[in-house]
Amino acid sequence: MTVARHILAIDQGTTSSRALIFDSKLEVVASAQREFAQHFPASGWVEHEPEDIWEGVLSTCREALRKAGLDAAAIAAIGITNQRETTLVWDRRTGRAIHRAIVWQDRRTAGTCADLVAAGHEALVAARTGLRIDPYFSATKIAWLLDNVPGARRRAEAGELAFGTVDSFLLWRLTGGAVHATDATNASRSMIFDIHRGVWDDDLLALFGIPAALLPEVRDCATLFGETAPDLFGAAIPVRGIAGDQQAATIGQACFSPGMVKSTYGTGCFALLNTGETPVASKHRLLSTIAYQLNRRRSYALEGSIFIAGAAVQWLRDGLGIIKDASETGPLARAADPAQDVYLVPAFVGLGAPHWDAQARGAIFGLTRGSGPREFAKAALESVCYQTLDLIEAMHADWPEAGPGSKAVRSVLRVDGGMAASDWTMQRLADLLDLPVDRPSLRETTALGAAYLAGLDAGLLPEPDRFADLWRLERRFTPGMAPSERSRKIDGWRDSVRRTLSGA
Ligand code: G3P
Repeated sequence: MTVARHILAIDQGTTSSRALIFDSKLEVVASAQREFAQHFPASGWVEHEPEDIWEGVLSTCREALRKAGLDAAAIAAIGITNQRETTLVWDRRTGRAIHRAIVWQDRRTAGTCADLVAAGHEALVAARTGLRIDPYFSATKIAWLLDNVPGARRRAEAGELAFGTVDSFLLWRLTGGAVHATDATNASRSMIFDIHRGVWDDDLLALFGIPAALLPEVRDCATLFGETAPDLFGAAIPVRGIAGDQQAATIGQACFSPGMVKSTYGTGCFALLNTGETPVASKHRLLSTIAYQLNRRRSYALEGSIFIAGAAVQWLRDGLGIIKDASETGPLARAADPAQDVYLVPAFVGLGAPHWDAQARGAIFGLTRGSGPREFAKAALESVCYQTLDLIEAMHADWPEAGPGSKAVRSVLRVDGGMAASDWTMQRLADLLDLPVDRPSLRETTALGAAYLAGLDAGLLPEPDRFADLWRLERRFTPGMAPSERSRKIDGWRDSVRRTLSGA
């Protein structure tokens, strides 16, 4: 009989679905990845085809198993991590979505959000959810679906429909429709979940017009969520871990102590600061969110969310056509004319933290007749560094002192995600932050976090503090920019952002 010692991590992201198989030493033994189509039906709208998501997950899981030469019986548990906030509503009877998924980047509900802010609801929403009223989160997307798909509201009230973020949709499909659940981290991004009590909030459901009959059950991140339908992989595999991708990366980076910060560079950039078991209400326009919930105990994080990071490099490739591959940006940036201060403010879908300006749109400043692909590449990479700086400064202001047993925000930043592979960008990040930047040897931190949760619940992996001892540094980037140059560049960035904001 095969002994099940491997863990299958599903990482369903904004632009691709991935499956990774880890052995019990947390080495990746096989992986598969599939990109899928992005749909932009109107300006500021972003949608995903639910069947693309499902097909991509299923096929990458099967491919990873095949590559590893393993069958389902060798897999002790599945961990799921996912693009957060992206909203699906499906028919409980057929499992078919009633509309394409509305992606976290989608701005179609900006008007609704502005009305809610104008009506004075921001304080209630912030107090209960830790979030700001913004189209980014699921609540107004759910209401949009109910109001725009014929018959949806009536069917939702009758209990015929189910809402879920991507984790919940995948869990439903993986279990053959047997389980409608999510985890506390994904719930904390919905804008209808009370992060203090750990329950869906009736007042907010009424405010956003969302029937409770739509909602999944909310569970710990490491628990038995259900078993896969046997026909999917040849045998049932338990699903034992779920966390939103940024929280999974926080776990994968072993940021378990208050004061530890990680920053992940995917489509967007998301920095999370562990604040321990008490949520910190931000005074600097960051979010409070659930970092993880284990054994019914919640740990919280302050989060800074930037919507465009790797997407700026994609824009260089697909929009401008000045590169063929992301790896070209570092060498281009290195060769850029240092005398040119070109700033890109990549507000392609508005600006997230700490500005929260849904109406702003991208801008580029400082172009001269000599500006070309090199300067554009450098400006795109630097924009990610400057935006991270804005987040770290806001975190530092919200968490100024290193309390007993906790670390100072401005001690070190752990990084991961695609852009973390760029040495040039990470060095520039360290220089502009004036902070050491640590890159781990295992850069698959998001998938690792999901695998860890599943392995923890399966009894294969140790408790968080011992897991933290396994974290390994690959390279530290040490700041080295002259203070005068640093402040000149930062002043230029701040001025560019001011000129880009929609009220400017
Ligand atoms: O909040 C959105 C975030 O979860 C998306 O992450 O890695 O798909 O850009 P990513």
